[in-house]
This record gives sequence, C-alpha cells and structure tokens, in this order.
Amino acid sequence: MDVLLGLQWGDEGKGKIVDVLAPQYEVVARFQGGPNAGHTLEFDGIKHVLHQIPSGIFRPQILNIIGNGVVLDPIVLKKEIDGLGKFSIDYQKNLVVSKKATIIIPTHKLLDAALETSKGDKKIGSTLKGIGPTYQDKIGRAALRVGDILSPDFREKYDTLVEKHKTTLSFYNHPIDALPEMEAQFFAAIEFFKTLNLIDSEYVVNDALASNKKILAEGAQGSLLDVDFGSYPFVTSSTTMAAGACTGLGVSPSKIGEVFGIFKAYCTRVGSGPFPTELFDATGEAMRKEGNEFGSTTGRPRRCGWLDLPALRYSIMINGVTQLYMMKADVLNIFEEIKICTHYELPTGERIDRLSFEISDLDVKPVYKTFKGWHCSLAEVRSYDEFPAELKEYVSYLENELHVPIKLVSVGPDRVQTILR
Ligand code: GDP
Ligand code: IMO
Ligand code: MG
Repeated sequence: MDVLLGLQWGDEGKGKIVDVLAPQYEVVARFQGGPNAGHTLEFDGIKHVLHQIPSGIFRPQILNIIGNGVVLDPIVLKKEIDGLGKFSIDYQKNLVVSKKATIIIPTHKLLDAALETSKGDKKIGSTLKGIGPTYQDKIGRAALRVGDILSPDFREKYDTLVEKHKTTLSFYNHPIDALPEMEAQFFAAIEFFKTLNLIDSEYVVNDALASNKKILAEGAQGSLLDVDFGSYPFVTSSTTMAAGACTGLGVSPSKIGEVFGIFKAYCTRVGSGPFPTELFDATGEAMRKEGNEFGSTTGRPRRCGWLDLPALRYSIMINGVTQLYMMKADVLNIFEEIKICTHYELPTGERIDRLSFEISDLDVKPVYKTFKGWHCSLAEVRSYDEFPAELKEYVSYLENELHVPIKLVSVGPDRVQTILR
C-alpha cells in the first residue's frame, strides 16, 4: 500500500495527484478526516470538488473505500453522490464504506459552531463541518458508527447522543432552532445511506493486499494540521500523517511501500495559527490571485507565503516520505524573485531550523534565500527538459536540501499538466 499525503496545511493538490496516479492502482482509500476536505480534480475541461468520496471515483476500474478512520456526514455524502449523477458511476460496485467509520450527526455541527464562538479571538478557523466534536465522541466512546444505522435501535442510540449534546449546547447558550430541519435531512440521507455498500473494510483492504492488488491511501488535510504534530491547537482532530493510514484502514505499518509527499512550491494556510513565512503585502496578494487560493470547501481566502524548508523537512521526517511531488510551480511564474525560508530567527538573534514545542509561541522571523524567477508561462510545458533553467535550479536546490527526490512537478490544474521526472 502506498500513501499519498499533504506536507503543509492542506490543499496541496492531493485530489489532482490521486486522480493522475489512480490508473496504477486497483483501490483508492480515504483513511481520516471528513467533509472538512475539498479535493479538486480537473480533466476534459470539467472541475470536480470531492469532500468525502475518494478521488479514484472517476476511474471505473477502481474500488474506492471510505475507511474506518473517516468521520462521515451522510447529508454531504448524499449531496456529493447526487452531484456526480451525470457521470454514470456505479456506486454499488465502485464505492464501499467501512461500517466502523464514524457518523457526523447534526448536533456535532452545532457543537462545532458553539465551541468556535466560545473561543472568541482564539478561534481555530474550523470548517464547521462537525469534525472536532465527532472525533471527540469517537475517542470518548460515545459516537455512532456507520454499521449502527442498520441496527433496529439506531434511533434510540441517536436520541441518547443528541440529549447529551443538547446539554452542552445549552451550556454555551447556542441556538438549536435549525435542528428539526437538519434532522429531517439527516434521516432522509440515512435511508439513502442504507442502500450503499457498507462493509468490513479492514478485510477488503487486507484481502486486496494478500492478492497483490495495489492500494493508494489518500490523505486529507496536511501534516502541519496533524493533531499530534501540527501547530496545536490550530489543527484538525485526526492523524493526518502516514501512520494514520494504518489505523484508519486496519493495515500493518509493514505493508506501507512508497510515501508520496505533496507540497506546493510556496505555502498556504486557511484558518488560524502560526505561519512564519506568511506575506501580508502585494506579493502575498498576487500569489493568492495567481494561485486562485480560495478554499475548496468554504471559499475562504487562503493565507499565502513563501516555501518553508524547516517545516517541510519536519513533515518529511514524521512521514518517512520517499518521493516528493511539487505542485503549482506555475503560480510562481509571475515573480521576478522567489524566496525560500531556510531558517527562523528568534527574537534573541539565534537561528534555528527545527520546529520545537515552543516555536508556536515565539515571534520567529523567516531567513530567506532568494532565487531568480523564471518569469514565463509553464502552461504548455510537458517535459522536464522544457523547464526554464531557473525552475530546474529551484527543484535541484530543494532536492539537495531535503534529500528526497522530487519525482513530479505540477504546472497547472489539469491532469495533463503533470511532469514526471
Ligand atoms: P487538495 O485538498 O490537496 O486536494 O487541494 P485543493 O483541491 O483543495 O486545492 C488545490 C487547488 O489547486 C485546486 O483548485 C486545484 O485545481 C489546483 N491545482 C492543483 N495543481 C495545480 C497546479 O499545478 N497549478 C495550478 N495553477 N493549480 C493547481
Ligand atoms: P484538504 O483535505 C485546508 C483546517 C481548517 C482549520 C483547521 C481545523 O482539502 O487539504 P476542522 O474543520 O478540521 O476542525 O478545521 O484545519 N482544515 C483544512 N485546511 N485543507 C483541508 O483539507 C482542511 N481541513 C481542515 O481551515 O484551520
Ligand atoms: Mg482542499
């Protein structure tokens, strides 16, 4: 099983690459996260954003698995499936859902909003899809799981959980007027959900491995949003790193082959939290405009800045990345000069290149190395040989610093704008 994951704060371009690599695999599986994700695929002039369905869904020969580590919103899933109606996808055959995946219920979304509001100016900038409260219930051994919807006492289990949530919502004085309408949608979606192929996915995954089928595990979010290693508490509530693929699918670490680390040629972050190389000036604004950096799930403008080497090295380390894929190189076309952060400078003047526990609270200044920009379009470039010399230099510098080969460079959102090295 190979694992593909984001090395930054999400939105690196994972969806595009899963779609590009999918023909080499028999199975694509999501292992964590939920509808907070927005994975974009572009081909034949059409753009698709997937939230919970794995990005192999447009390839009819691929089995797409929503694994046990995922938190799933039935309402969003139904909408997603309805939205793909015109593509004649055989969901019974190509999409299966783990009975051990956790269900997001309407009050989880209300709780997400109540908790964010209560944080005042310390808001995480959550997507408000109910992710945090649902994982909290999972770990707290109170959640509902997909398999539960088939049980005759599902409604009873649901009501028990909702009563508990209402106590918390009333503590936060959070309005629940919207709940009846949300519940009507939820139970309608549950009826639809029952018609899908609900399975013991750990057996399907391990049987596939035993018969030498190739599986691609599709990460959501990014390593810097990991609940253990991200910039806590400004993180998501799941294990976004490679290890999450083992717990989120029921696969032994010994079965992991390649770990594909996806990163943008610069950095973006949506939501709050530390971002040492963030640009607040016209350069950052130009990056946002050129990269169309607006959230695929919430539409929020993404914060933009230069590439951060200490952070990238950290993500490579905790994931054991074997191949790097650099995305959105074309967005840097517009710049005369391009910068890479090599170190952080502490208020004491000391230079560091590691992400210590304390770093989130320190006012660090990025130290940059400056590169000459290539300043030309990459839209029609289809091989590494056609790369401008300045881009080749950018790639070589990164490979030397990171000690991992950059095997793919993406020069546009379309499937065909993908250069293998
Ligand atoms: P994901 O969450 O990691 O799948 O990434 P998103 O889909 O949220 O965000 C990536 C955005 O960049 C999407 O709009 C993609 O269509 C777009 N994209 C992906 N690769 C490239 C690229 O190489 N160049 C440009 N300009 N856009 C890209
Ligand atoms: P993909 O898979 C970018 C961010 C949110 C917020 C924090 C917590 O498309 O890369 P949550 O809703 O999980 O409680 O939000 O994490 N976040 C993402 N940022 N891409 C994502 O997913 C994200 N999923 C969550 O903006 O800062
Ligand atoms: Mg995204």
